Amino acid sequence: MNDLPEGNPARLERAVEVWLGSPEALGGLAGRDLLDDAERARADRFLRPEPQVTYTSAHALVRRALSAYAPVEPRQWRFSVGEHGRPDVDPRTPGLDADTRRLAFNLSHTRGLVAVAVSTVPAIGVDVEWIGRKNDLRRLAAAKFAPAERGRLEREVDEQAFRRRFFRYWTLKESYLKARGTGITLPLDAFAFQVECGAPVDVAFDAVLGDDPSAWQFEVSDVGTEHALAVAVGRGVDAPDLAVRIFTAGVGRP
Ligand SMILES: CC(C)(COP(=O)(O)OP(=O)(O)OC[C@H]1O[C@@H](n2cnc3c(N)ncnc32)[C@H](O)[C@@H]1OP(=O)(O)O)[C@@H](O)C(=O)NCCC(=O)NCCS
Repeated sequence: MNDLPEGNPARLERAVEVWLGSPEALGGLAGRDLLDDAERARADRFLRPEPQVTYTSAHALVRRALSAYAPVEPRQWRFSVGEHGRPDVDPRTPGLDADTRRLAFNLSHTRGLVAVAVSTVPAIGVDVEWIGRKNDLRRLAAAKFAPAERGRLEREVDEQAFRRRFFRYWTLKESYLKARGTGITLPLDAFAFQVECGAPVDVAFDAVLGDDPSAWQFEVSDVGTEHALAVAVGRGVDAPDLAVRIFTAGVGRP
């Protein structure tokens, strides 16, 4: 049973679709019915209710979102896990054909928000962050960000503007790491984002990354007043940008 609108893998050609929802709107622990044994065991290991609800609704949303593009029931999806922990659709999931076997996804969850990006481009990454986090952001920026990013952050005198810019860089960095599937094995200060109002997101890579900025498309946006969202798409050198469409998912509410 899937309550997201009927999808069609063809509409993912040259597109990424991102499904967003709060854990509560996604049905919270009710999503447990859709999870497999390993996911349930992991959900059961959380000691506090909030991460358990977030995890459960996130993994249920992955299944429901994928089922919007393929004739597979949400419970039937199987996943494989890469060397650095990246989960992907297991092509042996029963019911997949040559087209739907190419479905790729990435998941992110933070306090109050879950995001699932789906595409047929394998190198996609998504990150959402709650921008109210209490960490010492100036210290984190000094420790993690590239010199150009730190310089632009230092010029933000307004605390809210600083916070907003910080989380744009943070989510973009995470989305890139996640699209590459490497986790935190890449040096975070070896790539620098530039985000200015009305201009496409720009990125510079140090040689150590062995990567080409022209192969990438990045999108970053606010979600309401409390969250930031970034999407990274490794669309290929000088390939045209993909359409990035964002939807709100919720129980009984496509
Ligand atoms: C995966 C990672 C890159 C992101 O984790 P995160 O931002 O804490 O968490 P998110 O909610 O965005 O993503 C977690 C999901 O990504 C997926 N994931 C796990 N490993 C992944 C990888 N190597 N590549 C892509 N996706 C991965 C999983 O679906 C995971 O969900 P699950 O744990 O419920 O199964 C992780 O390696 C990490 O630890 N990041 C923190 C690194 C850091 O210091 N970043 C600062 C940036 S300035």
